[in-house]
Amino acid sequence: MPLSKLWRWHTRSKITVIGAGNIGGSCAQRLAERGYADVVVVDIAKGVPQGKTLDILESTPLVGRDVRLVGSNGYEETAGSDIVIITAGIPRRPGMRRDDLLFTNMDIIKGVVEQVVHYSPQSILIIITNPLDAMAQLAWEVSGFPRQRVIGMSGILDTTRFRTFVAQELGVSVEDVQALVLGGHGDQMVPLPRLTTVGGLPLSQFLPPETIQRLVKRTIDGGGEIVGLMGSSAYFAPSAAAAQMADAIIFDKKRILPCCVYLDGEYGINGVFVGVPVKLGRGGAEEVIETELTPEESQALHRSAAAVKELVDTMHRRPKT
Ligand code: APR
Repeated sequence: MPLSKLWRWHTRSKITVIGAGNIGGSCAQRLAERGYADVVVVDIAKGVPQGKTLDILESTPLVGRDVRLVGSNGYEETAGSDIVIITAGIPRRPGMRRDDLLFTNMDIIKGVVEQVVHYSPQSILIIITNPLDAMAQLAWEVSGFPRQRVIGMSGILDTTRFRTFVAQELGVSVEDVQALVLGGHGDQMVPLPRLTTVGGLPLSQFLPPETIQRLVKRTIDGGGEIVGLMGSSAYFAPSAAAAQMADAIIFDKKRILPCCVYLDGEYGINGVFVGVPVKLGRGGAEEVIETELTPEESQALHRSAAAVKELVDTMHRRPKT
């Protein structure tokens, strides 16, 4: 069979990463090393997306991947993307809360999403820019996409932090610790130790409540701990979380993972983006998975959703410029 015919069979997926900073660069590297999709990186900074993608491209003979990697300051190259991961925006500096980024990043997200929708109207958006829940909500509103196709990356990051701390404390494999963190990606997130398991067994069998509480607190403060140490936001774990979401979507894995999605009555919450377990597949967040929570857990989730709602209201009240 002539090669040209084979080419036509071979339709590769395409993933765009907006923002070529710490998280965007790390996302591009992780995706290129997986090798299943072509990767386009866009940033307003001249030369940065071009330089980072070239650097990653030059590593591909060493990691054994044949991928097409493009860096650009415009959106033409992104056309027809299956997934668009949005990391553009300013990150936290020491002493800042995620919410302090609201006004600057909402302008950036609005502009970015308008371009993305124009060039990739069928794409699935993964939002990483903080304050994450509000930015996901804004991206959804600006895009006009169905809610399944706008997903915030936060629950997987918060959960992987909790899993790491539990595994470290117990001296067990990180692979055997399963956990769930719900709610907004902020001080009010809701780690659920009751549903955390170690090799399928309840966490309470392994650790006393005080230790669990200490790990829960460390998880909630996890992003801030890293900002405090190195003066800028985390990026290795956030990019790993985004890449896991991309895997689930491209390979239609139907993974059950905590993600930030628009709730329409689920968990008794309406009209706001909050972290809950979803089924992630080719259609995006195909289903919100509900589970019964204790009254305390449910109150904590509602408090967290109320905090997101407040931020979204602030965003909506901002005078148009
Ligand atoms: N379009 C494209 N890229 C943009 C735009 C824009 N309108 N505005 C800013 N950027 C780019 C910057 O030029 C920079 O390269 O976004 C990139 C952000 O990178 P970093 O400053 O390294 O920030 P990073 O650590 O990657 O975090 C990005 O994700 O987790 C959140 O809080 C974090 O909001 C922050 C975002």
